[in-house]
Amino acid sequence: MILVTGGAGFIGSNFVLDWLAQSDEPVLNLDALTYAGNLENLASLAGDARHVFVHGSIADADLLARLLAEHQPRAVVNFAAESHVDRSIHGPEDFIQTNIVGTFRLLEAVRAYYATLADVEREAFRFLHVSTDEVYGSLEKDAPAFSETHRYEPNSPYSASKAASDHLVRAYHHTYGLPVLTTNCSNNYGPFHFPEKLIPLVIHNALAGKPLPIYGDGQQIRDWLYVKDHCSAIRRVLAAGRLGEVYNVGGWNEKANLEVVHTLCDLLDELSPRADGQSYRCQITYVADRPGHDRRYAIDARKLEQELGWKPAETFSTGMRKTVRWYLDHPQWVANVTSGSYRDWVGQQYGADKA
Ligand code: NAD
Ligand code: DAU
Repeated sequence: MILVTGGAGFIGSNFVLDWLAQSDEPVLNLDALTYAGNLENLASLAGDARHVFVHGSIADADLLARLLAEHQPRAVVNFAAESHVDRSIHGPEDFIQTNIVGTFRLLEAVRAYYATLADVEREAFRFLHVSTDEVYGSLEKDAPAFSETHRYEPNSPYSASKAASDHLVRAYHHTYGLPVLTTNCSNNYGPFHFPEKLIPLVIHNALAGKPLPIYGDGQQIRDWLYVKDHCSAIRRVLAAGRLGEVYNVGGWNEKANLEVVHTLCDLLDELSPRADGQSYRCQITYVADRPGHDRRYAIDARKLEQELGWKPAETFSTGMRKTVRWYLDHPQWVANVTSGSYRDWVGQQYGADKA
């Protein structure tokens, strides 16, 4: 079996669902179920013996040692993290604890477990760390996209904590010979995306008749990848990546935020028009910029394509249409995740009257 951490979050749950749709190899899913973890994402696996869920933290050394000894996974895929930049600005502590201390504890536990394996199992074992393009910092308008050798220049507490985790993973390979792989991916979107992030937030607010908040001038650029394409890239790197290597994952879809929001409004105008016949674009509102806001990210994914033959299956246009349809078809999922503590977050970030 494989051990997946953070498998109840946005990307992790998509990964677990895709994995079990394509293989009978069981998944041990360790997730702390923070505000971002949601077992409803995995409801279709109820009663499926191939999915074993454990509620717990990657920072819990005793739990990790017990799980590894008991289940003997042949690989670990580490998604578990605090992932939202704005939250890291309001309160970095959780990001340090999970993304740095948690990754360190996980590496320590895996190092001890790896030492107990027989030669043939050690040969096959992999630790895949899921990271982000944000560790490379912000690109100038015409600068080439981030390659794997771009220097690290993280600008937010979130990206700094992910950068630290990447460095620890690298060090465990060089110092202890742990068979690691690291993927640094651009912005994902798709089903089960928590509506604190731009794309699901805009879909949710549009349908609720609320403002669509654009930070600053809306000309910041992100490189968007449909989440299922990220999952296929991780499977490919896990299967064939060279040990100790880093692989950048991206969709070659650089878009300014305002263009993304216009695309969403146009899709919603077509698929679920406003009752008054106006475009959802009339709900766009400019709000204060994110402190330290990175201007542009772009991923050069040629290494992954040339070495491992991976390419995204979705274009921005097909992926966005699928995503809007998914949110329109799952109003109950959205209603469930936008109750309770979600309202507290929206009140803190955008003003109490917007919650
Ligand atoms: P998410 O916030 O939706 O999910 C994170 C999951 O980790 C949640 O289920 C949460 O409960 C769990 N978790 C948090 N702390 C934990 C702990 N201490 N122990 C165990 N589980 C814990 O995040 P996501 O968007 O799915 O991102 C997953 C990973 O991919 C992260 O490492 C993130 O840095 C990386 N990543 C995300 C994106 C993106 O666009 N979302 C892009 C590139 C890389
Ligand atoms: O690049 C990969 C990263 O993408 C991941 O590592 C992070 O975990 C993930 O959260 C995401 O980070 P971003 O900060 O790019 O994503 P977010 O959806 O928060 O914001 C996307 C862009 O939209 C960013 O430029 C900020 C802007 N934005 C965001 C929100 C929530 C707005 O203009 N308004 C908003 O309300």
